[in-house]
Amino acid sequence: NDGGSMSTLLKRVKKLPKGFVWGAATAAYQVEGNTNLDGKGKIMWDDYLKNQGNFSPNPACDFYHRYPEDLKIAHNLGLNAIRISIAWTRIFPNGYVTDEPNEAGVKYYHRLFHECLKNNLVPYVTLHHFDSPKTLFDQGDWLNREMIDEFVKYADFCFQEFVEVDNWFTINELISLAMCQYIQGTFPPNKLFDVSDAIQAQHNELVAHAKVVNLFKAKGYKGRIGLIHVIQPVYPATNSEADRHAADLRDAFMNRFLLDGTLLGFYSDRTRHLIKEILVANNAELHILPEDLEILKQASKQNDMLGINYYQNQTVASYDGPSETYHNGNGKKGSSVFAFHGVGKDVRNPAIPTTDWDWNIYPEGLYDVLKRIAHDYPDYPVIYITENGMGAKEAWDSSKEYLDDNYRIDFIDQHLAAILKARNEGVNVQGYFLWSLQDQFSWSNGYNKRYGLIYVDFASQDRHLKRSALWFKALSKTMK
Ligand code: BG6
Repeated sequence: NDGGSMSTLLKRVKKLPKGFVWGAATAAYQVEGNTNLDGKGKIMWDDYLKNQGNFSPNPACDFYHRYPEDLKIAHNLGLNAIRISIAWTRIFPNGYVTDEPNEAGVKYYHRLFHECLKNNLVPYVTLHHFDSPKTLFDQGDWLNREMIDEFVKYADFCFQEFVEVDNWFTINELISLAMCQYIQGTFPPNKLFDVSDAIQAQHNELVAHAKVVNLFKAKGYKGRIGLIHVIQPVYPATNSEADRHAADLRDAFMNRFLLDGTLLGFYSDRTRHLIKEILVANNAELHILPEDLEILKQASKQNDMLGINYYQNQTVASYDGPSETYHNGNGKKGSSVFAFHGVGKDVRNPAIPTTDWDWNIYPEGLYDVLKRIAHDYPDYPVIYITENGMGAKEAWDSSKEYLDDNYRIDFIDQHLAAILKARNEGVNVQGYFLWSLQDQFSWSNGYNKRYGLIYVDFASQDRHLKRSALWFKALSKTMK
């Protein structure tokens, strides 16, 4: 019983392109658990989560031990790729790169990559997914340029060591990290509206990425390398000039600065102008060293891939009041507030449905993002959708064979249709990774925001399939 005929399962998307990369995504800290095991060093989250006392990163889905089971399920569901991240502090426990990496950590990732390949899952590997080593975090994280140097050394080690891996991503979602750390206060060090830190951290991460790309190419490592951005297209609340300008400013802050830095290798005049307006409004500063631009320029011509994560759009109105934010971390619909002095205030567009966490569901936004990249950055490298998915409150009902998550099927189906439409119009998108393979630990929302194809009972660690998993499998068969 596959829970429905192929024709009802396959809605708008009738067929995937041949050779399409069809995967699901994970991140080390969100799945592995076992954060103290086998010599793993602390990251920026461990003490913070402990002190906060809301949720623990252990055992998460115990992927550290249960990866063979999860990868086997992934294979059986017809996936041909998987996105995973390496936990820097499993390899170098205190962040600093030495000649003596932690052997247990190195062996773990060899076993993991081997198991991926055994299951015909091509690993796409991220080097930094929101998990800076604690020692480096304490010294300023990405605001401290020493972090860039250590990151380059850590990346170099991984390229030399993990020859099984052909597809590398340096850093995941620079803007989310900066927003959560320095604007919304939901990630350590929990600052609020520190615009200088938020912009500086992103610039420094772009330089770190660029240095790694330049090294990867200079040393002639095999395989491909890229960066992952989450893009949230911004639409004005009304057609007024003030709202349109606010949307432009927000877009510069969220998207344009990073896309320029990655794909052009410099910040265009228009981008600099908009960013300057944001800095002035918030009494903030950005420091760019002359050599940074050389480094960015060189790397911009050498990216092999671009990872795009897409979840939602933003609707923004002009706003000059004091900045304020409230993070809806428990799924109480309608509770979010985000108003950013001089950079627009989020407003609800009643035509756009939302999840319980107030994330807009707007598949057309993904089409717009892809078209925009192709238009504004014609030299863009091949694009992979490295994350897209829908968080929901779900509970396993043992009287049923599968968990019914038809809303997730609709969500993915509509987003895939948007991707394929852009692809048919010439945008070079070659793959899709659903966030996420299995239910995981969500950074500032804990465990009741579930995204997986596979339902995880976090107490027993039992796995159950959701209806979306069957749909995923049905789609995988259309590639043949
Ligand atoms: C992305 C991240 O921003 O969104 C993931 O790369 C994250 O790590 C995912 O889990 C969903 O966000 P959240 O806050 O709902 O877990």
